[in-house]
Amino acid sequence: MDNKKNRVRVRVPGTSANCGPGFDCLGLATTIYNHLDLTLLRNGKVIVEATGEGADNIPRGRRNLTWQAVRRLLQEVKREDEFKGAIIRMKNHVPISRGLGSSSTAIVAGLVAANEILDTPLNRQELLKLATEIEGHPDNVAPALFGGFTVSVMNNGEVQTFSFQPRIKLKLVVAVPDFELSTRLARKVLPRNIPLKDAIFNVSRASMLIAALVEGREDLLPLAFDDALHQPYRKKLVPGMTEVFEAAKNAGALGAAISGAGSCLIAFTSARSRLEEKIASAMVEEFQIHGVKSKALILNVDKHGAQILKR
Ligand code: HSE
Repeated sequence: MDNKKNRVRVRVPGTSANCGPGFDCLGLATTIYNHLDLTLLRNGKVIVEATGEGADNIPRGRRNLTWQAVRRLLQEVKREDEFKGAIIRMKNHVPISRGLGSSSTAIVAGLVAANEILDTPLNRQELLKLATEIEGHPDNVAPALFGGFTVSVMNNGEVQTFSFQPRIKLKLVVAVPDFELSTRLARKVLPRNIPLKDAIFNVSRASMLIAALVEGREDLLPLAFDDALHQPYRKKLVPGMTEVFEAAKNAGALGAAISGAGSCLIAFTSARSRLEEKIASAMVEEFQIHGVKSKALILNVDKHGAQILKR
């Protein structure tokens, strides 16, 4: 194999997990992307070059998450003795540690790119299994791989995912605060047990959300993005959370939620309402009132998931 054959470029979307009531099981892909240019090497060098979001803090060498994903795939298909290193060039647009799935993009990009170079020994379901194993949960890696909205179920360590394109054209308004939030910390504040009424609150809304998106029932969405399982406990980690949600809804959003474990907040609006700019300003202004600097991203739902750009 010459170097050209060992090289591929992929792009992977940022993602937003939970989508309100779907704690640890719902996710969606967004139109903000990280790019990876991967070359597999026969020697043991791991060279990492990164530009864009968080470039200075991305681990170089063997600790790099994309390399770990590449190596895991090589082991899975028993080619790790053939390719011992890689050149990893990343161009990142997804903000780091903000609840937009940046670590999932790194994992999925490494798996998809290495799989492509090796002539696709694994299918997407098998890649999902590896990605979930590395990330520890499926709610970001599933939409990063498949695109659209995803519902993921874990059963005895095995993941099953349903991915679909919503029948409502949504705009996603993401307020990105100027502080990071670690998922580990954001999970520490959660209680070990929750009241039955809160479980019912979420099960009913998560079910309504998926049914409304699949059937194109926008009228049912204003009920469907609320949550009682994690956001009430996390609001102390994101100053002004409840008020930013209110500001987004007052500006016309159908609903709002923490994106993943935060720190971003995401509001959902229908594209035909054309209210996204107004919602974005309302969210940034409300954050400001609570002493938080933020910027807004207006995004669509990504339909494709991880894509090979060039071989
Ligand atoms: N669902 C996770 C959480 C974050 O809210 O802690 C993303 O996997």
